[in-house]
Amino acid sequence: MGIEGKVVAITGASSGIGLATAKLLAERGALVVLGARNGERLAEVVDEITAAGGKAAYKVTDVRHRSHLEALVEAAIQFGGRLDVIVNNAGIGPISRFDALRVEDWDAMIDVNLRGTLYGIAAALPFFMRQQSGHVINVVSTAGIKILPTMGVYAATKNAVRTISEALRQEAGPHLKVTEVSPGMVSTNFASSITDPCVMEAVAKRVSNVAIPPSSIARAIAYAIEQPADVDVGSIVIRPTAQD
Ligand SMILES: NC(=O)c1ccc[n+]([C@@H]2O[C@H](COP(=O)([O-])OP(=O)(O)OC[C@H]3O[C@@H](n4cnc5c(N)ncnc54)[C@H](OP(=O)(O)O)[C@@H]3O)[C@@H](O)[C@H]2O)c1
Repeated sequence: MGIEGKVVAITGASSGIGLATAKLLAERGALVVLGARNGERLAEVVDEITAAGGKAAYKVTDVRHRSHLEALVEAAIQFGGRLDVIVNNAGIGPISRFDALRVEDWDAMIDVNLRGTLYGIAAALPFFMRQQSGHVINVVSTAGIKILPTMGVYAATKNAVRTISEALRQEAGPHLKVTEVSPGMVSTNFASSITDPCVMEAVAKRVSNVAIPPSSIARAIAYAIEQPADVDVGSIVIRPTAQD
C-alpha cells in the first residue's frame, strides 16, 4: 500500500502530465524512472528531483520502438530492483479534419498513442507476472468520451487503449492492476504536436481559457497507485469544471 518505495516507470516524462507525475511521485517517496526522447531534458528533471531529495533515473525512450520500452523497464529494474508501476503516458495529438487527409499524422498517432502503449504493456507484463504484482496505468483522454470534429483519429487511438485496458484487466487475474486515466484539457505542450496551423491556434486558445494544470492529473495517478493491494482503480475522468 502507498507510494513510498514503489518503482515507477513513466513514458513521456520530459513534459506536461508525465513530468508532473514523476515529480509528485518522487516527492512521495517513489523511485521514478523517466522515459522520453529528449535526453537533455530528462537529465535536467532527474537532477531537479534528486536535488529535492527524491530518487530518479532516466532512459532515453522513443515509444515507437519496442526495444526502447524493454530498455526502459530494464533500467527501472536495475535502478529499483523491481518494477511496480508502468505509466504509459507518452502521446501526441496532431488532430485535423478527415478531409485534410493528413494521413501521416493518423499514422503517427497510431504509432505513439496505441503501439507505444502496447509496447509498454509488452515490456512490463512478463516482470509483473513473475513478481505476481504490478500496475499498468494508461493515460487516455476525454476526447474518447465526447468525440468532437477533428479529434476522430486521436479519439480512436485513445479508445483503443481504453478497450485494451479493460481486456488486460480481465485477463490479468488478482495480482495485476490496470487503470485508465482520462484527462480533459490540461495546460501542457500538447498543442505543439498539432501540425494543422488553424486547428493548433483554436486548441491553444481553448486550452489557455479553460485548462487545468498537469498536477491535477498527477494527483489522480498517485491516488490510483496508493490504494491497497486488493483495490484496483479502473477508470478516472478529470476535466476542468469549465470544459463543455
Ligand atoms: N494536455 C491535454 O489536454 C491532454 C488531454 C487528454 C489526454 N492527454 C494525454 O496526456 C498524455 C501526455 O500529454 P501532455 O498533455 O503532457 O503533452 P506534452 O506536454 O506534449 O507531453 C508529451 C510527452 O510525450 C513525449 N513523447 C512524444 N512522442 C514520444 C515518443 N515517440 N516517444 C516517447 N515519448 C514521446 C514527449 O517527450 P519527448 O518529446 O521528449 O519525446 C513528452 O514528454 C498524452 O498521452 C496525451 O494524449 C493530454
